[in-house]
Amino acid sequence: MMIKLRRLEEKDLDRFLEIRNSSREFLHDNREFRIGETISWFRESERIYYVIESDGVFVGYFRTSKWNLSNGSVWIGADIHPNYRRKGIATKSYNLFMSQLGKMGFTHFLLEVFVFNKAAYELYHKLGFKDMRSNETTRGISVIMEKVI
Ligand SMILES: CC(C)(COP(=O)(O)OP(=O)(O)OC[C@H]1O[C@@H](n2cnc3c(N)ncnc32)[C@H](O)[C@@H]1OP(=O)(O)O)[C@@H](O)C(=O)NCCC(=O)NCCS
Repeated sequence: MMIKLRRLEEKDLDRFLEIRNSSREFLHDNREFRIGETISWFRESERIYYVIESDGVFVGYFRTSKWNLSNGSVWIGADIHPNYRRKGIATKSYNLFMSQLGKMGFTHFLLEVFVFNKAAYELYHKLGFKDMRSNETTRGISVIMEKVI
């Protein structure tokens, strides 16, 4: 499987939304969004997203926030389309993404996961993320995790 990452563009938003809505039970904001509000969000948002392509197919995306080159930290997270899960795509994509970010000077990767999200929590441990602290939220306990390269 060949993984490629590229910036999310407006033309990608239909597929992006399909994946996002099918992942929403695991996301901080679990509302279902519609395309109109997603287009407005995309035009206004300063957050940078990347499309994950596996053998040329748009199968998922990375969310990023809080880029801080002065201390080398950035927050990341990925969602994979339900039909493409459990094939090693997230593992390969995270390793590629963190190595690309590493070349740009980022050494500290942070993310937040709900403890009930066993798939993601296990994935992050396998990728070498460590539990830093936990938060009690209205939807359950979440853990902030960090990987340092
Ligand atoms: C979490 C998620 C990104 C994992 O993507 P993926 O491409 O399926 O992950 P991989 O195939 O690379 O799995 C790597 C490891 O993670 C763990 N894992 C992944 N899916 C799992 C599942 N359904 N149950 C248990 N463990 C799972 C396993 O340890 C797996 O290794 P294995 O297949 O050798 O047992 C994907 O399930 C997803 O998009 N979920 C919905 C959205 C979400 O939870 N996003 C993250 C929010 S913090």
